[in-house]
Amino acid sequence: MSSPSQSELARSGTLEELYGKLDKVGMGPGWNKPTPSLWPAPRKTFVPAHWKYELARGALDAAGRLINTALAERRNLILFNPAEGNTYGTVRTLVAAYQMIMPGEWARVHRHTPNALRLILDAEPGTYTEVDGVDIAMQPGDVLLTPNWSTHGHGNRGKACAYWLDFLDAPLVQLLEPMFFEAVEDEETSADAPAGEPRPAPPSATTDSPFVFTLADTLRRLGEAKPDPRGPFATQIELGHPALATTALYMMKLDAGIPTAPYRTTANNIYAVVRGEGASDVDGQRFQWRRGDVVAAPAWRPHWHEASGDAILLRVTDEPVMQRFGWWREEWPVAMTH
Ligand SMILES: [Fe+2]
Repeated sequence: MSSPSQSELARSGTLEELYGKLDKVGMGPGWNKPTPSLWPAPRKTFVPAHWKYELARGALDAAGRLINTALAERRNLILFNPAEGNTYGTVRTLVAAYQMIMPGEWARVHRHTPNALRLILDAEPGTYTEVDGVDIAMQPGDVLLTPNWSTHGHGNRGKACAYWLDFLDAPLVQLLEPMFFEAVEDEETSADAPAGEPRPAPPSATTDSPFVFTLADTLRRLGEAKPDPRGPFATQIELGHPALATTALYMMKLDAGIPTAPYRTTANNIYAVVRGEGASDVDGQRFQWRRGDVVAAPAWRPHWHEASGDAILLRVTDEPVMQRFGWWREEWPVAMTH
């Protein structure tokens, strides 16, 4: 049946008749929509969650036997949020993943529009990331940036497997659609070096780069920062301002036994444990964490932390997105519900 004309629509005698005709012209009555379009406060679609580094290491060691970097662009484990229907994001806008490369491996160069960063968990000297042609050393506790469209590949010339956490704004890029990705021809994957193997000459990796925040520098800055152990982020410094266009990074130093102020924000937060042990309460769920673990505090989920010994957390957040568009709200202390 053909689409109704203007006059046929105008002659509709009942609402049901009108709805039937509207459907044929690709319109829907806003007053009869089955689900609301607006709601009074964030729905908290993504859920509190915790991932353990020790489990990821076990799985990555198995993956090290089963796949190599010539077969896989990256050997990583995606920390997908267990919210119903979700298969990718750790929170709405960001995804975290554990990654490992083995001694002698080269994860080939590529570039993409999603911004990325990584927190190094365990790596021996000789592990490096090439960013726009510069080799940057990867040392435990360092944070390394690969912004939108920067070329990057990873090499391991050490004697042990190297492990780190990746964070990307890929879920946001998927939502907004400006996704581009391409492999880049590089000397490691040229004819004289088979795919998956690093270059023959040792790299002269540096930490003197705008793309890296070393743990040594983080510790020095935290030592000089104004202590605020009972604030929502305890003693905090920012890495970059912001580190990436969509993503801000903070290092937080928790004092043993002093809980941070319960906090909620429209921004999404992912916490990664750089040092120490403790627990986080995210909207009534308590997670015991240790070095290398990850905790998701999705938008509007009240949360607080308490370390059992001095601890350092990396906070990865989409605050710059919320702030740019005027949607950033935060509250503390906020009453926790159990
Ligand atoms: Fe990448």
